Amino acid sequence: MSAPTTKPVAVPPWPGAKADGLVRLEINGESAELPIIVGTEGERALDIAKLRATTGTITLDEGYVNTGSTTSAITYLDGEQGILRYRGYPIEDLAAKADYVEVAYLLIYGELPTSDELDSFRTSLSHHTMIHEDMRSFYNGFPRDAHPMAIVGSVVGALSTFYQDSLDVRDPRQVEVSVHRLLAKLPTIAAYSYKKSVGQPLMYPRNDLGYCENFLQMMFAVPCEEYHVDPDFADALDMLLIVHADHEQNCSTSTVRMVGSSDANLFASISAGISALWGPLHGGANQACVEMLERIGADGGNVKKYVDLAKKKDSGFRLMGFGHRVYKNYDPRAKLIKATCDKLLAKLSIRDPIFDIAQQLEEVALADEYFIERKLYPNVDFYSGVIYRAMGIPVQMFTVLFAMGRLAGWIAHWIEMHHSPTKKICRPRQIYTGEKRREFIPITQRT
Ligand code: SDX
Repeated sequence: MSAPTTKPVAVPPWPGAKADGLVRLEINGESAELPIIVGTEGERALDIAKLRATTGTITLDEGYVNTGSTTSAITYLDGEQGILRYRGYPIEDLAAKADYVEVAYLLIYGELPTSDELDSFRTSLSHHTMIHEDMRSFYNGFPRDAHPMAIVGSVVGALSTFYQDSLDVRDPRQVEVSVHRLLAKLPTIAAYSYKKSVGQPLMYPRNDLGYCENFLQMMFAVPCEEYHVDPDFADALDMLLIVHADHEQNCSTSTVRMVGSSDANLFASISAGISALWGPLHGGANQACVEMLERIGADGGNVKKYVDLAKKKDSGFRLMGFGHRVYKNYDPRAKLIKATCDKLLAKLSIRDPIFDIAQQLEEVALADEYFIERKLYPNVDFYSGVIYRAMGIPVQMFTVLFAMGRLAGWIAHWIEMHHSPTKKICRPRQIYTGEKRREFIPITQRT
């Protein structure tokens, strides 16, 4: 591969990126001139759009470790520096100065809202919080011990059967109605999946409450007495939804983009994202992490034993909530969550043994050569479960809360994908390694 030339090149078809020279590639006597493109933060990529047509060769990249799927103006993260910004605003500022509805507006519409814009956004959401009465009967059909991620993913997909007036992906008004419906209804759908599991009546949303307060009252209120939301819990939940709101092209967001690229409706695309998030290597890690910490606690709290186990390749055991594809530094979200853990537990004078175990585990792991060498740090899932436990949220609901936060980012990416002038249906290629052509053998001759 020759060095980039400085010859002026055609502006790439990538919206928002700039051309920065060419690379000339010779493969089996075929040559390709591939543009290099640069993003606003100096990230560089090789545009291989013409590679196969000019050389007959494709690229292969298991898990897309080195492959960008798109350009995006939504979230910037620098894994080496531990930087995370939504639409240019540092996550630390947004967590301290904004609330989740405001951040959702920022991610989806691209700018921080004026107070009038935010008021009308909140009002619109408050008028979409109920689900169709017939959808409530869905919950009677699920087994009592159904995992809430299975329930939430199914009910979100089913929204496309009850709201058929807003499925046209090419009608901006219908898309906007679906966006507001989803943001408003997901907390209701989520809380109902919890109420189902504890055999309590489904509590209707209350439009006089804020986004997080409303969710907590649907989760924990019962019809036979007054319920007062603890403002500390509402604030902690709001911070958690903000830090989970987006994270560029992660597994579930890429799933939403891929499903959406076929022009499937927004509800179907988000339902697919919920399923992808459920995996314990992705959003399901917050549940797996608390279960791991509880296992360590039940085993005498010997964190070193489990750190050593995680280092053994064949053990099949990993420290859940640790490591990250992009962050090779401390996940900035984990820092914010850990600080909130400290504050909330102190304020409530709660001593949660798994918070102590988590802190001991972090200390031992971060001093261990194996983790240092591989740049493995606590990620967003390492401490979030401690806060959820303090709020009385059951462990099976942890990933549902991750989905509630991530919904804003999924929606923003789905819309950005549809607005891209170069939008294509996602259809990766492969390299076939199976049998060459064979003659069919009639069953009477098979042995
Ligand atoms: C999320 O992409 C996102 O942005 C995701 C997310 C988001 O906001 O959307 O940030 C949310 O999904 C956070 C990650 C939650 N998952 C976990 O906490 C599960 C535990 N972590 C790992 O399984 C792992 O770190 C991943 C899945 C997160 C990342 O895996 P990669 O990038 O494919 O890295 P890898 O598996 O190739 O690991 C590299 C090395 C390996 O060792 P070697 O083969 O080099 O000897 O690090 C080791 C791994 O064995 N390793 C771990 C480890 N994570 C990686 N060893 C022990 N414990 C771990 N947690």
